[in-house]
Amino acid sequence: PKYTIVDKDTCIACGACGAAAPDIFDYDEAGYSEVVIDKNKGTIPVLEDLEDDLIDARDGCPTESIKVSDEPFLSKILNN
Ligand code: F3S
Repeated sequence: PKYTIVDKDTCIACGACGAAAPDIFDYDEAGYSEVVIDKNKGTIPVLEDLEDDLIDARDGCPTESIKVSDEPFLSKILNN
């Protein structure tokens, strides 16, 4: 399984990830990306059918803010 999280400290709200993977990423009020499936906690696996979109989004992020792991994230480090 793949887990993902957005590092909002480095996201520049460019919007590429939501275009590449609209079922995974959405934007907060300020336009910064976050993972919709688990409120950017990185604790719920991405659906297998969406893994290709996830990798496209990660590779397309200009600031490398999209983190992908085979294990759940200890998300408190990256969130807020
Ligand atoms: Fe931010 Fe990267 Fe998406 S800069 S809006 S996480 S493509």
